[in-house]
Amino acid sequence: MKKNCYLYSLNLINIINNVVKLDTNGHFEILELGAGDGAKTKVLLGHWLKKTSAFNYIPIDISQNVLDILSKSFKTELPKLNISPLQGDYFRALAQTKTSKNRRLVLFLGSNIGNFRKNNESIFIQAISEQLKPNDAVLIGFDLAKDPRVIRSAYNDKSGITKAFNLNLLQRCNRELNTNFAIEEFDHYPIYDPLTREARSYLVSNIAQKVSFPNSGKTIDIAKGEIIHTETSRKYTHEEINQLFTENGFNVERSFEDCKGYFADVLAVKK
Ligand SMILES: C[S@@+](CC[C@H](N)C(=O)[O-])C[C@H]1O[C@@H](n2cnc3c(N)ncnc32)[C@H](O)[C@@H]1O
Repeated sequence: MKKNCYLYSLNLINIINNVVKLDTNGHFEILELGAGDGAKTKVLLGHWLKKTSAFNYIPIDISQNVLDILSKSFKTELPKLNISPLQGDYFRALAQTKTSKNRRLVLFLGSNIGNFRKNNESIFIQAISEQLKPNDAVLIGFDLAKDPRVIRSAYNDKSGITKAFNLNLLQRCNRELNTNFAIEEFDHYPIYDPLTREARSYLVSNIAQKVSFPNSGKTIDIAKGEIIHTETSRKYTHEEINQLFTENGFNVERSFEDCKGYFADVLAVKK
């Protein structure tokens, strides 16, 4: 697998176009699974549009609200972009686009793949593979295995970003489900296990509390010191990434990395 450090790979788009031969019939499709607000993709598509506008961008997300936010900002910031948002579950939406004859590139950016339970990321890549034709491609982001101290401090950041991210789950429960979590009584407890390469975040309750869920009429008791598991984020070695793709019908073509080798966007082509 050839590697490119982002700082030196000024030609990212050229490389992808050449490897995937996206422009052979003039038109292609870029589909993004779980596009969110598209903040990262906007940068990539902005560069792409300098080369060609002969592609359709199809952001797929389960949330209509986030697709509306994305569409509004893309319309003003990338007015030349042909965009067709698709609301729905990853695979139901992907299946709807299967009839297209154009070559397709599927994006799954950020490190969302690391949130799957172990082995489910393989099922996910297999499911994408089943929706693609030979020579279609994927660009998937992976957080790479690295010095465990770097990972632990990222999840225990001094500015409290990860803590706020996790407590936001309880804030949303209180706001949208009318629950009564005593949020100020939870501490953030992150761990990283270098053997399983899983970073896990927990919230620990400082007090015994009774939380009611009015919509279902249920109440749960949380003991003092009891934990809520909020997130798992797996880190990957290059060997694992290669295996994930090759066992699911892809050839790995390139790994685009930051200069510290902390993160990789991996380009793989369907056999
Ligand atoms: C963590 S955000 C990532 C957004 C963006 N890709 C990024 O890296 O910044 C995950 C997004 O995936 C969407 N999502 C989660 N599960 C989904 C599913 N099964 N089908 C479609 N979208 C999904 C969520 O609504 C959310 O917008």
